[in-house]
Amino acid sequence: MKKRIFVAREVFGEVLDFLAGHFEVTANQEDKVLSGEELARILADKEGALTTLTERIDEDLLSRCPKLKAVCNIAVGYNNIDLTACNARGVMATNTPGVLDDTAADFAWALILATARRLNEAEAYVRQGQWDKWKLKQFLGLDVHHATLGIVGLGRIGQVVARRAAGFEMEVIYHDVRRAAPEIEAACRARYVTKEELFGKADIVTIHVPYSRETHHLIGAPEIAFMKKSAILIHAARGGVVDDDALVEALRRGAIAGAGLDVFEGEPALHPGFLELKNVVLSPHIASSSEKTRFKMAMMAAENLSAALSTGDPPNLLNPEVKAR
Ligand code: DGY
Repeated sequence: MKKRIFVAREVFGEVLDFLAGHFEVTANQEDKVLSGEELARILADKEGALTTLTERIDEDLLSRCPKLKAVCNIAVGYNNIDLTACNARGVMATNTPGVLDDTAADFAWALILATARRLNEAEAYVRQGQWDKWKLKQFLGLDVHHATLGIVGLGRIGQVVARRAAGFEMEVIYHDVRRAAPEIEAACRARYVTKEELFGKADIVTIHVPYSRETHHLIGAPEIAFMKKSAILIHAARGGVVDDDALVEALRRGAIAGAGLDVFEGEPALHPGFLELKNVVLSPHIASSSEKTRFKMAMMAAENLSAALSTGDPPNLLNPEVKAR
């Protein structure tokens, strides 16, 4: 008899076909975001789940899903999954690292360029029919070429962002909890600096750290206070890493020149202050959203699930502790 699994959000047809070859599949192709209650009810008799960042997997849910053996996230981030609770219940958890690095880094660059050159403001101006003449001082922006790029978090995505900076002949500085190996620094042409130096020197600060208790509000009023008035902040990592209240306040005062944001605290709701500000480029958490990459992420999660439930040893296992049980 095939094992039962649940696909918690809409996925590509090919991914469902792959899963149907291995499992009895129930899928939420209408893509409704389920409440914890609904999810617990559906997962009560399932052995596996394909989840996304909108499904919270915690002790409360796991205690009601005794058959569950594997939760495979379609994301590299996994702050929606309580690994301690998974360990206690013997539930394997996996993510999708690597496949989205280039696409997410490309998008950070899209935000860098759009924010620095005020593309959103200029586009709205043209669309609204306000463009009546060429002006020397129109939408004066920040030069990206030869600027100093400050990367917070030189992990996989941060490294790709750094390597792309060579084309703009930028100086790259970075800060991380751990200094990168010399060969990584050389490949990225990135110099390790303190957090204070990074925020004080960079013309463009871009954030590439995962969200956790340790990185909650890693960037708040004190860090923003170090930034130059002409600098911009780019955030396409995870809501909660930046203190959005502090950022809105700084942008309102003109303490920094602008921000490019793909992620927000409490998204999809966002601080209403962002909507009132012209110097903010906003997008709905789409950094990894290219056709090819989102497909690869979903297929990788499906393969993780297939391996988890057949061998008990899936690739990209986040909690190898469960294997010892
Ligand atoms: C991830 O993979 O963590 C992304 O944020 C989801 O697209």
